[in-house]
Order: sequence, then C-alpha cells, then structure tokens
Amino acid sequence: MNKRAFNFCAGPAALPEPVLQRAQAELLDWQGKGLSVMEMSHRSDEFVSIAEKAEQDLRDLLSIPSNYRVLFLQGGASQQFAQIPLNLLPEGGKADYVDTGIWSRKAIDEARRFGNVNVAASAKPNDYFSIPAQRDWQLSKDAAYLHYTPNETIGGLEFDWIPDVGEVPLVADMSSTILSRPLDVSRFGLIYAGAQKNIGPSGLVVVIVREDLLGRARSSCPTMLDYKVAADNGSMYNTPPTFAWYLAGLIFQWMKEQGGVEAMGQVNDRKQRKLYQAIDASALYNNPIAPADRSWMNVPSAWPTSAWTSRSWPVPRPAACSTSRATARWAACARRSTTRSARARSMPCWPTWRSSRRSTADERGRPAEGIARPDRQPGRAHHGADQRAGALCPGSGPGQVRVAARRRAAVYFPPRARAWVLKHIMELNKGPLDNEEMARLFREIMSSCLALEQPLKVAYLGPEGTFTQAAALKHFGHAVISQPMAAIDEVFREVVAGAVNFGVVPVENSTEGAVNHTLDSFLEHDMVICGEVELRIHHHLLVGETTKTDRITRIYSHAQSLAQCRKWLDAHYPNVERIAVSSNADAAKRVNSEWNSAAIAGDMAAQLYGLSKLAEKIEDRPDNSTRFLIIGSQEVPPTGDDKTSIIVSMRNKPGALHELLMPFHTNGIDLTRIETRPSRSGKWTYVFFIDFVGHHQDPLIKDVLERINGEAVALKVLGSYPKAVL
Ligand SMILES: Cc1ncc(COP(=O)(O)O)c(C=O)c1O
Repeated sequence: MNKRAFNFCAGPAALPEPVLQRAQAELLDWQGKGLSVMEMSHRSDEFVSIAEKAEQDLRDLLSIPSNYRVLFLQGGASQQFAQIPLNLLPEGGKADYVDTGIWSRKAIDEARRFGNVNVAASAKPNDYFSIPAQRDWQLSKDAAYLHYTPNETIGGLEFDWIPDVGEVPLVADMSSTILSRPLDVSRFGLIYAGAQKNIGPSGLVVVIVREDLLGRARSSCPTMLDYKVAADNGSMYNTPPTFAWYLAGLIFQWMKEQGGVEAMGQVNDRKQRKLYQAIDASALYNNPIAPADRSWMNVPSAWPTSAWTSRSWPVPRPAACSTSRATARWAACARRSTTRSARARSMPCWPTWRSSRRSTADERGRPAEGIARPDRQPGRAHHGADQRAGALCPGSGPGQVRVAARRRAAVYFPPRARAWVLKHIMELNKGPLDNEEMARLFREIMSSCLALEQPLKVAYLGPEGTFTQAAALKHFGHAVISQPMAAIDEVFREVVAGAVNFGVVPVENSTEGAVNHTLDSFLEHDMVICGEVELRIHHHLLVGETTKTDRITRIYSHAQSLAQCRKWLDAHYPNVERIAVSSNADAAKRVNSEWNSAAIAGDMAAQLYGLSKLAEKIEDRPDNSTRFLIIGSQEVPPTGDDKTSIIVSMRNKPGALHELLMPFHTNGIDLTRIETRPSRSGKWTYVFFIDFVGHHQDPLIKDVLERINGEAVALKVLGSYPKAVL
C-alpha cells in the first residue's frame, strides 16, 4: 500500500496501519481456523478468547480496578445518554449535568426524558470558550450522579481536571478522550466511550462501570439496556459486534506495544502543541478556546468565511491530507482530531496545507490578508474582552500600548487587497474614463465578488440618503447590506455587538472640523479603525414638487451642512429661517410635506426623496470634503501606504504636549491630524486623538509609540489602515 491519507477525522478515526495489516492478514483465515472473525460464533472458544484478551488489555492499559466491570455494548455513545438515566436515575430522582457543548447538551436533553436534571454548570455564558470553574457549580445535594463530557469533540473544549463531587458517582462521556493519556479510573462511577474515535471501529461502545452501580436499573428499563444484564452475560446477552470488538482488541494490543497510555499521552501532547503553535502563529486562523481548556484531541480553528471551504474554491490541497470539516458554530472551520493514529508527522501537513492555500491564493492575484484573530495572551479573556485603556477607557492599567480589540468574528473583507487593486487600476488607467470612475467601477466589481463569499453588513449614520451612506457605498460598493442607524453611538454599538461587520461614521470635515460625537464614541467603545473614506461633499438646495420656490421661509439641514453653506445662504436667503435637523436626509424628507420649505442635502437624498435642485453645489468652499472612518474588528496588515490613529492621555504638566509630539518630529513622522477632547476621567483633563502616516507595526512607528507610552498615562492604537483611495 503506497497511499494513505493524513486523516484528521474525529470518528471514525484513523486506525494504526499495523492493526489494519494484521486484520487484513487474518481476514480470510483467523489463526488457522479457516474462517474470519466475522464468521465465528460469538460463543465459540475462539471469539471468547478474543473478547477476554481485549478486555484484559484494556484493563492493563487503564489500570482498571477489579471492582469495575468492562462492557462492550452497541448503540454508540448516544445510546448511553438514555441508558445512564435508565440505570442510575431512580424514578423521581435528580441528576446533575455539566453543559460544556453539543455532546453534553445531547446527554442533558435525553436525560430530561427520564427525570429531573439539574444543569449544575454551563459554559454557555462564556460562549462555550471556557469551562466554568468548579467553585461556581450549583451541585444538588441529592444527585444520583454527575454527568460531564471531559472532551467536547466538536467545540474543542476539554477538562484537564477531574471534578470532585465527593460520594456522588461521577459519570463521564470519554468518547474522544479515553486512552489518549493516563487516567485514574477509580475517580469515576461510570465511564463510557463510543469506540470509533480513540478505540477502534464504529459499532461499539465501551462502558466501564463500578460494580456497586449495577442492579439499579428502573423496572421499566429494557433488558438490553440494563448494565447488570450485560455484565452478567459478559456483554453477550445478544450477539455482540464481534468484528468491532476484535479490532478494538488489536488496537489495545498495539497500544500496549507502543508503551501504553503514558506513551500515547506524550505523542498526543506533541501533536496538540504543534497544532496550536501553528494556529497561534497564523494571522489567518484562530482558536478562541481559553488556553487551559483547549482540547488535546480535537483542535478546531476558524478561518474567514465559509467560502474558503467551498468545493469550488480553486486551490488544490494535497491529495493525502484529509481533514474533518466541522459545522455548528465553527461556520468556517476545520477540526483536526489527533486521535491515536493521526500520525504526529502528519501534524505539520496541516499548517502547510493551510499556508499553501494562502500562498496559492496569492499567486492567483488575490493578496493574502492577515485576518484578525483574538488576542491570545494568557490570562486575557478572548471574547468580549474589555481592553479599554487606562484613563481613556475605564478598567485597565495605565501606561500600556494597546491595540484596540481584535475580535474573533473574522470576516473576509480585504482592505489591503482592495487598496492595492484600486491603486494599480488607477496607475494603469489611460482613459477615456477618469481615475475616479475607474475606481468606482472596480469597487463595484470587488463588492459583488466579495458578496458571493459572504454579504457584508455595514451600519452607517442614517437615515437613508445621508453622506455617510454615500461614504459606505463608496468604500464597500453597492453589494452590501447597509443598515441606517439613528446615531453615531448606535453605529458603534452595532459593531461591538457583532450585529454588523463594519460601521461607517463621519470624523471630520474640511470646513467645520472634527465630529466630536465620533471621537467621544472611541472613548466609550473598544473598536478598530480599519479604513477611511474621503467624500467630496456637494450640497444642493432641494425642493419638492409642491414647493413654492418664491415663498420659501425655512431651510432644513444638518448643522454641519448649514455651516458649510453659511456664506451662500447669507447671500441668497439672508432672511430665511435655518433649521438644524438630525441629518440631511431627514431634512430632505421634510420638504415633501411642506410647501414653504427647502432642504440642503446631497445627490443621494435628492434621488431618494424625489426632490429637484433649485441650486447646485452651494457649499462655500469648492474643496469641501468629509472624512469617514470604517470601524470594525479586523486589524489591517501594512500596505506600505497607511495611516494610524491613536488616542493618548498625558499627565497634566507643563510641556506635556511637547513631549508627546517630539518623538514624531525627531523621527520625521508626518502628523495628519491632532484633536483634543475632554477626558472622561476628570475635569480639565484631556485626551489627544492623533493621526499620522505609517503603520503601527512598522519598526520606526513601534519605537515612537513605545517612547510616547513611556510618558503617557495611557495610549491606545485605534488602528492602522490604508490611506483613502480617491
Ligand atoms: C463526546 C461525544 N459523545 C458522544 C458522541 C456520539 O457518539 P456515537 O456516534 O457513538 O453515538 C460523540 C460523537 O462524535 C462524541 O464525540
């Protein structure tokens, strides 16, 4: 045999080659008996010897004490979800269960059919990313048993400790962890494990049960499901799955030859280290499980979108590399199971395959992006972590360089690739379309292509028809789901909550200066700036069909827009009331129902509300532009033409601002903006919002930030992002 796949499937899992070869050699004629194991009577001496040896080898491997019975049953681990309460939960009794993921929830749901279930602890509030500490469990006083799942095969969450529940029998679903390392069986009342993962072929479940728990089955328990009946009949009350039992026995024998569970533990430890190292070193893949609770046996990792997993994705993978695609919450995810025979040498195959996908993607002209992943420093929460900085944001220590939170929900929108494409398109453009038009066309093409992978949701300062919506469409193209929000703060909240992928907010206008609401929102929320858009703002005086244009008495607009058209209004409508409303779109909306009013707004609002232009481009300055920020959760890698935004809080002392600016000056770093806002931490204290040219990962910028950090009360990097392209 010259072609065996690297198989990371959780179950049925890879089997050791020597075992398969031996089974092959014995298939037609088992040890000179002239028949295969599949054809033997289960009551024959031959099969009984196979069965007994298998049991003894398992006892040796796990040092199973003599007061435990080992049962080889059918129905898989799932049948145990019912069989356990039928045997151990008396009518009217109560059992404690710990909810750590899909498999424990299945066990809970099934047990509820038979009696009272107390969910003593649940990982749900932690998004199933960490195991609740035992001190927080709400155990019942009179529980018949406590059930838990030491390893959640799908979620990749694993206990590295055994719960201490005193005299209450501890019941464990060890389907994907049994035999992966040494185990103290005497701590448990009952252990069960579907065989197809760590033991052998499917069709078999192994139950290790303490003798005193036998004979407790309810009277309604079917005979076939009564543990005592199984134990009394040597697991042969009916015809057992003989071939699966035989194969399991061969595997137990092979494990003993390899050095037993101690040796298995060492190999598995090496495998899991390699995998997590590869994931943690990757900018693209992500495992957000709390480090102490990460599974050795099943290592899920998420990548940007489900499109990466689609069959049509034109990136080859090595024929000999087979992974298990998990579904559920790991929407775009591979799970590698390091079961016994998934060879240690196959572990590097996985990251290589992953990186080959990335580099092949590069060759195909689609620049690989560093997609955000959660900060995995030990001791930090990975989900919903509040990483606000010192005086800037409450709850953390001063004097720390912080990069705004990178969250786990990565989405495939490649700001770097996008900026690169647009720049090159404009460089190559020889007309007749101008650069702005070419960039617009290519933005739309990219927008439509990206929407095929996963339509982006973008929140913006609404209502529909605002310049912020125009900025959102300019940046993301029209193939996005854009959602208007009533206020800037709501845009931030939608992004923080993960309800949308990105938010778009105005930050400054060339005539009127900073948008303070936006700056203040950065103090409240932990966000990453991942892009900027500049929009030339053309204001028009808009009227409706019924407007009596010679009798206009009111002009509605946003306060900023009224200010941007002040001189024009003074010259043309000096005596008309100027009424500031929440947005230009809101202004446009009002005009249709009032015959004596007009609105100042842009083209989008005019179109949307069916208004005509009484006067065009009425802004006082012909270069009137507004800059908008794209906020999200993805950090953008350097493109070579970036800007960075930071917030700094300095000590209130003479020369503080000078100290803050000096490192920029001495290193020749171009500042593009500096704003001051009152700090939330005290009266007459201020924070500085600074934008400058460069990326916070550039060595020079890193150096500057460290120097500022030495002097600052707190420093937070809001994000580095490609400079706006036309
Ligand atoms: C932890 C755990 N429990 C139970 C099951 C269900 O096993 P079976 O298919 O043998 O019923 C699985 C299967 O993946 C599992 O991983």
